[in-house]
Amino acid sequence: MPEGEEMSNTTIRTLVLEYVDQNGASHIREMHIEILQRRPNTPEHTIRARLSEAVTEGLLSRLGEGFYDIYAEDEAMTSVVSYPVRCNQWGSPRYRGNCDGRLFKNLLLRYRAQKVADPMLGSGTTKDVVEGLNRHKKKNISFWGGDLKTGFDLTKQKLPGSFEFIWIHPPYWNIVRYGDNLNDLSNHEDYEQFRKFLMICLQHCYEALETGGRLAVLIGDVRRRGKYTPIVKDVLNFPYGELRSIIIKVQHNCTSDRKKYGKLEDPPIKHEYCLVFKKTDNDCQSTKQRQTYVQLEIENAVRAVQTGK
Ligand SMILES: C[S@@+](CC[C@H](N)C(=O)[O-])C[C@H]1O[C@@H](n2cnc3c(N)ncnc32)[C@H](O)[C@@H]1O
Repeated sequence: MPEGEEMSNTTIRTLVLEYVDQNGASHIREMHIEILQRRPNTPEHTIRARLSEAVTEGLLSRLGEGFYDIYAEDEAMTSVVSYPVRCNQWGSPRYRGNCDGRLFKNLLLRYRAQKVADPMLGSGTTKDVVEGLNRHKKKNISFWGGDLKTGFDLTKQKLPGSFEFIWIHPPYWNIVRYGDNLNDLSNHEDYEQFRKFLMICLQHCYEALETGGRLAVLIGDVRRRGKYTPIVKDVLNFPYGELRSIIIKVQHNCTSDRKKYGKLEDPPIKHEYCLVFKKTDNDCQSTKQRQTYVQLEIENAVRAVQTGK
């Protein structure tokens, strides 16, 4: 702003509109399309005007990163990610366990994957991200998604086809119950049962990966009645592929945040992990890969009996 010039509302509006034009135009179009579904005939310029009002009313900070080009890759992403302002553009925030789609989006863009799957789709976050990338960034990414709720049981069924990137966000044991189906991973009281079924699910994902493809597992640990269960430890022990990343994702807006606890003996868990495994050439040729995880478990158990350990 030139020296001596007074800052008026008009100036602020103009400045912000220029900023939006530069970085977030596709986002405005997307909002416009959504609004058209409920109110046909709404002109796009009214959306822009409302956004500029929102900015002068101080709402921009609440819109947070969702306001910018949400389909751009965060190339500066590190092994610690934190999204304090939730991006509600994808999936449904009302679905318990729904995750922010930005980590998935950034990994997908980083790996330049063209064939993508999510066998525990939940409210459809990953599907929405891929649809948005295809629409706004002119990508041509194919996507397959399934979930027990819609009839796909990963403990029993294989993924249909082969993929370059598979994202899986399983239940964190039974802290959120997703249904009564006995094959629902969240339906196991016994941790050992949960762990075995989780490993079978991961194996089915791994088998559907192309060589060089990646499997990303978003998982969190559980503390119940003071007892800490490090689910991540078991996922790290997944016997296939090459571990390529351990990403710490800071958790925000958890249901437990709304409960008021006194000072607990141990600090509350406020992070989850995204572990990324890569399917390598070597691995495909190894006999280990051809065995099922269950076979490995049985062999381990037999060995333990034989060696007395
Ligand atoms: C943490 S939620 C996934 C949420 C999702 N990422 C989202 O953003 O909405 C875990 C999902 O796993 C599904 N699930 C549990 N057991 C399953 C199984 N055996 N096969 C397939 N899906 C299963 C549940 O129905 C639930 O939707």
